[in-house]
Amino acid sequence: MKVKVNKSKCIGCGDCEALCPKVFVLKNGKATVKESPTEEKCARKAAYACPVNAISIS
Ligand code: F3S
Repeated sequence: MKVKVNKSKCIGCGDCEALCPKVFVLKNGKATVKESPTEEKCARKAAYACPVNAISIS
């Protein structure tokens, strides 16, 4: 699984980290993806919840 955060879209709302802290962490007001994420289910929830669609999963 590959998870990406489009940092120019991310507004730092923090939903992704709240829903899926094993995959996302906020740094300097932007979400970043932790190394080798495996929690696909919650990563997908976070992608769905992100208000600006900044998260892509493949
Ligand atoms: Fe940013 Fe969306 Fe997460 S705005 S902090 S990627 S929920």
